[in-house]
Formats: sequence, structure tokens, C-alpha cells
Amino acid sequence: MTNPFRQGSDDSLQVEPCVLVIFGATGDLTHRKLVPALYNLGVDGLLPANFSLVGFARRDQSDEKFRSGLKEGVSKFSRRKPLDEGIWNEFAEHSFFVSSSFDDADGYERLKSKLDEMDQAAGVRCNRVFYLATAPSFFDTIARCLQQAGLLDEDSQGTGAGRKARLIVEKPFGHNLESAKELNTALLQSAAEHQIFRIDHYLGKETVQNLLVFRFSNGIFEPIWNHKYIDHVEISVCESIGVGGRAGYFDTSGIMRDIVQNHAFQLLCLVAMEPPVAFEADAVRDEKAKVLRSIRRIPLDQVKNDVVRARYQTGSVDGERVQGYLAEDGVNPDSTTETYVAMELSLDNWRWAGVPFYVRAGKRLPKRVTEISVHFKNVPHLLFKGENVQSLRPNILSFQIQPDEGISFKISSKPPGPKVRVQQVNMDFSYGTSFGVDAPEAYERLLLDGMRGDATLFTRNDEIEEAWDLLENVFAAWNPDTGHAPPVFGYEAGSWGPAAADELLLKRIPQGWRRL
Ligand code: BG6
Repeated sequence: MTNPFRQGSDDSLQVEPCVLVIFGATGDLTHRKLVPALYNLGVDGLLPANFSLVGFARRDQSDEKFRSGLKEGVSKFSRRKPLDEGIWNEFAEHSFFVSSSFDDADGYERLKSKLDEMDQAAGVRCNRVFYLATAPSFFDTIARCLQQAGLLDEDSQGTGAGRKARLIVEKPFGHNLESAKELNTALLQSAAEHQIFRIDHYLGKETVQNLLVFRFSNGIFEPIWNHKYIDHVEISVCESIGVGGRAGYFDTSGIMRDIVQNHAFQLLCLVAMEPPVAFEADAVRDEKAKVLRSIRRIPLDQVKNDVVRARYQTGSVDGERVQGYLAEDGVNPDSTTETYVAMELSLDNWRWAGVPFYVRAGKRLPKRVTEISVHFKNVPHLLFKGENVQSLRPNILSFQIQPDEGISFKISSKPPGPKVRVQQVNMDFSYGTSFGVDAPEAYERLLLDGMRGDATLFTRNDEIEEAWDLLENVFAAWNPDTGHAPPVFGYEAGSWGPAAADELLLKRIPQGWRRL
């Protein structure tokens, strides 16, 4: 069958025939992110030949009802509007629903028959990709049931010809080091490592990938990318939203687990890693794992100095009055969960010795902005002495991950006029202006890579475990049962966080956090 989704697409992105099965197919992630991403891949002609989608969830509903729910999600959340009815109808015709609880062997038998039937109708043995978009407590059960039903069997070991079967696992991958290890051991009893794709959607963001292209395709930056020229690095993941309807989950997690352990640490890895030997999954992941290993573990009694935690209080965001975290529906009134974290990290390796990395992440900050800024050392000797000398600032290279994707470089310059003065100006690259297109959503790239079997932008287990390991002492120090846990500071919603986070930086960086 010819594939209507593939017209005009790039052959290097060719994907073998594939069926995607989403577990938790009636949930928020499916409607907001996964299916809109698949639809947009369809619009770009990038879906594989014979592509079909199967939703697997507990709710009892017909294929028709499933499709109309997906259509509503795509109409609302797709980056492209309005919906192209032709492409949608083609997509909907290949979407099916299997209703079952996640631990019912019979449900998996029905799924298997459905998939076999689809193969027969298409006349090919399609690859099978199982996307676990459920609560993490089901990951192990689903993998085990899939394996018992023979659905994870492959014709060869991943690389050879024949049918492949893959598991894409959503975050959170564990709650701490021990649970991440347990989950990994459990998954490896059902699937082989090459079949497991652990998602961190930040790696699918265009500007995050551009960070690698920037570093390793431009000869001028790499020679100065080290402790000799770089003073410090800041990584900020700021959001204006609160915990909304996710308070139940968030209160057991906190921003450290929700954002820092995965998204922020992955960004740090990409800034700090050594050039990999190839742009291939294991080569890239080897280098990222090395970065995580080199991050100095903060001693228990040092946590109070190097890590600041806080939660938002009543305030206003975007001109709207909002309530404090403890008043949110679903939050335990005695909660000590943090909605803001700032921390200082040191990397014990040749390249980064002595360069502090500052990471901050928070909810209910003044705006949504994710940025990495690399602050260079100042000039060794000040030539332009005079009244404006105080305004002489070091160069800053910043990567704006969102919302205005781009790269900007702050340099000193002389404003016109008879006096020699020094002022900072920006050299900017903006994604939208340079390429004239919207960046695709992270899930588009990751779903495509998952279907192609390319794990480069997925995290490997050793990275996940290292990232948990380096937070072990932080969680231990924060444990309220110790009786001397550091305070959870308060910050007004709509502010940039607690004063303690500013003080953390001011200890070494006189200009404080970069203004965003
Ligand atoms: C998710 C977190 O992983 O990332 C959310 O669970 C957070 O709490 C979200 O809001 C942020 O993603 P993005 O792509 O909007 O920056």
C-alpha cells in the first residue's frame, strides 16, 4: 500500500512499517502531546508506511469514540491549525482501541490478535512500538504482560532484519536511586536493553539538539569551552504555571524530581560533555554518563549551603492573583515539597575544574523561560578605564530553549559619540527569523526516533541512575525525620524565587543570576 503520509518526505528518515500502541491512551499526555505529534508527523509526510495506532486503556469505548477524543485533542493542541480533515481522516481510519486493565492477560491476547490481524491486512510484519504513558506503577506490569503474550519477541536482536519490538517509557523513571534500579531490573526481565527507550522530552526540543550542533560544528567555540575561559554556567528552567490539576502527583515528587533530575541535568550534560566519537546513541550517551559521574556528590552537611528549596506563596502571575502551593487542591497541608530549587554543582574533571554550574527550576515564576547561559571570564586587563568601567561585563553566550528559541551572544561595544564608552550589545540568532518555520514539538522527533529505533535522544539507564545518585544526599538531608532538615523557604508567586537563591549565587558571582 502506498503511504499517503510519506509524500515529499526525506528518505533518510525512512521508517519501517510500524504499529504504535499507547498504554494510557485516554490520558492527558496522549491527547495533548502524543497524538498531536503523530498528526504533525503525518502532515510532514514522516509517518512510516502502514502506520497504525492502537490505544490501550481501561476505559470501555469504541474505536469511534476513541477517534473522536483524539480529534478533539489534535484540534486543540496541534501546533498546526486548523486541522487538515483529509490527513486526519486517513489517520483516524488507522486508529483502534483495545479496552483492558493493564494486568489482564486476556487483554494482551486481544491486543495480539488485533496486531496480527492488522499485519495480515497490510501484508507485512510491522514493527511494534509500545509507549507506556501510564502512571509509573504500571510500567513493570505492562512490560511483563507484553512479554508473556510474546509481544516483545523480535525476529533478531534489534539490528538484524525482521520484526522489532520496542518499549518507550515515560518519566518519572523511579523516585530515587533504589526505585530506579528496581524498575530497570524489572524492565530488563521482560525486554532487552536495546528495546527500551527512556524518554526525556527535553532532548527532543530543537534548540537542545542545536546545542550539540553549535558546539561540535563550529570550530571557534570548542577551544575556549573550558575552565580557562569560562567563569560559570547557569541553567534555568522557569515556569509561570503552578501545579494545577497535577498536585496529587507533584506533592509526592517536587521540582527536584520533576524537572532537575531529568530535564535540567540533561541540559547540563549537553553543555559539559566531551565530543562523542560519533553522533550515535551509545557514543553520545557514554559522554553524558561521564559528565554525571564527574559531578561532585554534595556532602550531607553541605546540602544546606549548596541547595536552596522553596515553595510558592500567594501572589500574582500575569496580572492574576494566584494561591500559594499549600492551598492548592490535593496538596498535603503538612507538605514540605519544593516548587523551586536552586543549586550549585561542581564537576571534577579536567575541562571543568573550578567552574561552578548553577541550576534553578521553579513553578509560578514571572514567566516561562528555559535558558542555558555560559558566562565567560572577564578580560585580563581593563584598557578602557573611566566613568563607565563598572558597566564592563564579561561575554555571555546564551541558549534560549524556550519560548523564543535562539542563541545570543553578549559582547561589549562602543556606542556612537566622542567619548570612549563601553556598552553591552547582543548578537542574536533566532530560530523563527533564520529558518522561517516553527520548531517541531519535542514529541514529534522522539516518536519518530522511537519508531526508527534511534536511541540517541533517549536516556540510558546509567545516566538515570547517576542522576539519582547525585541527589541521594540532598534527599537524605531534606528528610524531615532528621529533625534538622534545611528550611523550605517561601517566595511570592510571580517573583524570581527566594532571597536565599540569590545569596547562593552572590557568594561567588557578584552580578547574581542572569536576568531573564
Ligand atoms: C514535565 C514536568 O516533564 O515537563 C512538568 O512533569 C513540566 O511539571 C513540563 O511542566 C515542562 O515541559 P515543557 O516542555 O513545557 O518545558
